[in-house]
Amino acid sequence: MRTVQNGQERIRSAGENDTRQGDEGVIIISAMSSDRVIGSGNGMPWDVPEEYEQFLRYVDGQAVIMGRRSFEIFGADLRHTANIVVSRSAVRIEGARVCSTIQEAIASARALGKTIFSAGGAMIYEQTVPLASDMYLSFIKGHFTGETYFPCFDVHAWEVVEQRDHEAFEFIHYRRIV
Ligand SMILES: NC(=O)c1ccc[n+]([C@@H]2O[C@H](COP(=O)([O-])OP(=O)(O)OC[C@H]3O[C@@H](n4cnc5c(N)ncnc54)[C@H](OP(=O)(O)O)[C@@H]3O)[C@@H](O)[C@H]2O)c1
Repeated sequence: MRTVQNGQERIRSAGENDTRQGDEGVIIISAMSSDRVIGSGNGMPWDVPEEYEQFLRYVDGQAVIMGRRSFEIFGADLRHTANIVVSRSAVRIEGARVCSTIQEAIASARALGKTIFSAGGAMIYEQTVPLASDMYLSFIKGHFTGETYFPCFDVHAWEVVEQRDHEAFEFIHYRRIV
């Protein structure tokens, strides 16, 4: 995912020049505190633009599965992605395809032949981490409180493919090994 171009490092969006495009599993993408807080009210309890821009670069042009609540919060920023929103209550949502189950959402994303990201929130991570092949996790430095958490996961079931230290967060790409 990390390439060097003209002496400048940039993050390659998943799927770009990627021969695995469409074949790989679901990729979890999330930012969290060291104690797994992901949300506070209608947002995240930090303001780390560099991390949010990284998120937008990774998902650019790809398929993004989100829960109805998270799409209400972040959907306006997802204009260059194929958005698939999971909801039992909504029938139509502007800028997204609505699916009534996780399985339908994944099948719908797979049919697009794009890299599939699961971008939360907590309810969606809970149901998609067990199905995921990879996780792109940003651990925000500092202490934050909130009421929404990333699910616990067994680190022994995952290997670290890439780890990067940024000023305000640490990024880890995990790939499932079991
Ligand atoms: N830090 C991060 O990376 C990150 C990323 C995303 C979100 N967040 C945070 O997470 C919080 C939102 O998370 P959340 O757990 O409250 O909400 P959510 O997962 O975004 O959305 C929940 C909604 O998704 C639908 N849903 C969930 N499971 C379903 C299923 N199996 N079948 C059909 N529909 C299903 C339901 O919609 P209906 O009610 O319409 O039926 C449910 O109310 C916010 O605080 C947000 O800021 C953080």
